[in-house]
Amino acid sequence: MAHTICLINQKGGCGKSSTCFHLAGAFAHLGLRVLLVDMDPQGSLSQGFLGSVYVETLSSDHTIASLFDDVQFFSAHASLIVDTPVDGVSLCPANQHLAAYNGPSPEKTGLGQYAVHDFLNNHREFDIVLIDCPPNLYRCSWTAMVAADAVLIPVPPEDFGTQGLRAVHQCISQARQLKPTLSMLGHLITRSDRRLLVHRMYEQKLREMYGESVLETVIPEASAFKVALTCRRPVQLHSPRVRAAKLTLQLAREILERIGMEERNRQVA
Ligand SMILES: Nc1ncnc2c1ncn2[C@@H]1O[C@H](COP(=O)(O)OP(=O)(O)OP(=O)(O)O)[C@@H](O)[C@H]1O
Ligand SMILES: [Mg+2]
Repeated sequence: MAHTICLINQKGGCGKSSTCFHLAGAFAHLGLRVLLVDMDPQGSLSQGFLGSVYVETLSSDHTIASLFDDVQFFSAHASLIVDTPVDGVSLCPANQHLAAYNGPSPEKTGLGQYAVHDFLNNHREFDIVLIDCPPNLYRCSWTAMVAADAVLIPVPPEDFGTQGLRAVHQCISQARQLKPTLSMLGHLITRSDRRLLVHRMYEQKLREMYGESVLETVIPEASAFKVALTCRRPVQLHSPRVRAAKLTLQLAREILERIGMEERNRQVA
């Protein structure tokens, strides 16, 4: 059965979508079948693979928004999963239609809280599922946590980046009341520039505060991530020899170790 990880932080631009995009390539490289679920009305992850024109013109019933239209028929949504240009990586796209369902009071959404959870339960053909959340802790993030086995919190090592973490932790605790098995995969330091004293200091501070929850691998600020994204290819496939790709692969292996999952032999091109 797939292991489902949601990437959450109410901080915008901290690297949630970028991490999903590039990690998917690394997991696929390790032979895993990956499903990406875009739970952000911005649709960044979907656009990364499929282009903005295509994604913005998708009707609601071809996006994850359709799961909230009528939860009783969620299991009929097989067509929601589309292939990406990357072998081994599939995607449930999102676009602006999801915004109507991202209300700020998730606890009042009743059965709808389980929409993504139940949908994923009907799609067990994947090894790993990554859910990309919007920069808030509203219904989309809540529904993602209810569907997930574990939470990963991307955090840039600076003041604005670390603000709001308390609210994120509180929200995870609340979600655990509904989903007691939800575990903390960890805090992932993203967009780090170790040439900056302030980034080195914040990394140290995060490690002191959160201990082993902070993943050993640090994702640097690197143009290779942006270039690969522009070419619609995860960095591992676009330029596997660059440091950004090696660190993403190291991150994928570290995550697999944490969740107790092994690499597969199925290597993709
Ligand atoms: N490690 C990195 N190195 C260089 N650029 C990065 C890195 N991580 C993210 N970016 C760039 O920063 C911008 C914001 O990143 P991203 O969209 O992944 O953040 P996000 O947390 O998903 O944002 P939002 O909260 O709006 O969903 C993007 O243009 C992305 O390409
Ligand atoms: Mg995003």
